[in-house]
Amino acid sequence: MKINKRINDIIARDSMAISTTTREHYPFVASHGSGDFVFDISGNKFIDFSTFIGVYTLGVNGNAQIRKAVKEQVDKLMHPAFTDFYSEPPVSFAEKLLTMFPKGFGKVFLSNSGTEANEDAIKLSRLFTKRQYLIAFYNSFHGRTLGSLGLTASKTVQREHFGPFNSVIHTPYPYEYRWKDPKDCATDCIEHIKKYILSKEVSPREVAAIFIEPIQGEGGYIVPPKEFMKELRELATEHQILLVSDEVQSGYMKTGKFLALDNFGVTADIYTMAKALGGGLPMGATIYKKSLGDMPAGSHANTFGGNLVSVAAANASLEYVKRNMLSLQKMVKQKGSYILKRLNQMKEDYEIVGDVRGIGMMIGVELVKSKRTKEPAIMERSKVLETCFREGLLLLPCGVSTIRIIPPITIGQKNLEKGMDVLEDAIKSASS
Ligand SMILES: Cc1ncc(COP(=O)(O)O)c(C=O)c1O
Repeated sequence: MKINKRINDIIARDSMAISTTTREHYPFVASHGSGDFVFDISGNKFIDFSTFIGVYTLGVNGNAQIRKAVKEQVDKLMHPAFTDFYSEPPVSFAEKLLTMFPKGFGKVFLSNSGTEANEDAIKLSRLFTKRQYLIAFYNSFHGRTLGSLGLTASKTVQREHFGPFNSVIHTPYPYEYRWKDPKDCATDCIEHIKKYILSKEVSPREVAAIFIEPIQGEGGYIVPPKEFMKELRELATEHQILLVSDEVQSGYMKTGKFLALDNFGVTADIYTMAKALGGGLPMGATIYKKSLGDMPAGSHANTFGGNLVSVAAANASLEYVKRNMLSLQKMVKQKGSYILKRLNQMKEDYEIVGDVRGIGMMIGVELVKSKRTKEPAIMERSKVLETCFREGLLLLPCGVSTIRIIPPITIGQKNLEKGMDVLEDAIKSASS
């Protein structure tokens, strides 16, 4: 691993010119990449287990079809002013996207990011219900603009000085590993909403929507029990509260299904997507049931939604997914089982592996100081991430002491095995 002067220079210049972001674990300065690999500017080669925060689901830098579609569109027209003028590609993309949703989903709002997709979902749910309050979950991450930040309750640093966010009420997300008695987790979480939130804090008649990530992403790759999701759906229906599924991170095939919520046998009223949806370019989408109604013209819009280059990438990506659906599903199942098998073995072998959880190829491994106390192993996690980086494996953290494992779903088996070997060595060395 070469860390040359150029890398240090760029990092120093970045700290002078760029407003702070969340980078903290290792000095990766991207240069180029393709498929399973990415290179930094010193020529170091990495296997990608991060999909660059859930974006490169079909491989680093998209696939050849996505890149070709982008190049062709750039030479035709990039910005169609989709708010004011008409254009065909965003319409056919929306039609294609709707074929991935249950019957009755009939409208798509196109934007540029996950947070914007959620902003639209907030506005839609208030408009459709004429109610103001929103319910969201602890540990959730829905974005950082002021509406979606109100929903986010992952870390206080993300909210400090930006509130108050007084129309959002938070409630516990079923985090079985850290529940006193995991058996009671689903029931306790539903009971909390019924007994405290909807009985003491706000009338259900004033709640517009419940926002939920089918698997919590930034919060720690937490998978809720199936019965929780079913009961949540029933509760929402009983009170005519809309259920919004934030699929920004968990959607788009990572779990083996296009919609992560489908893993729970439940349908939402509104879905939000971004990240992988744009095939590597910025795109957000809010997709809602036709029966809910529509927005009056002028009540919501943006400049860049429907950008033709983003749409070209997203369209080529979605076409690939639709055409290869069965083989992609098989891939996710096989590779996901392989990752889980390896991690579960590590859980038996190493004291610091506390919990392993996930669906398909969206998997988290939570590190603890001891299996008995479950004290989060924060330093050890940093050490594992840094060791992996130095050994040529890119990984990202989530939650307090969890590592997320989200390679491109198209990753070759050999590279997957190699990556898991690097991870295991790093865990072994952090354990000792
Ligand atoms: C579940 C979820 N929702 C929303 C967002 C916000 O997306 P963006 O960063 O594109 O605004 C994220 C980003 O990580 C996310 O994971």
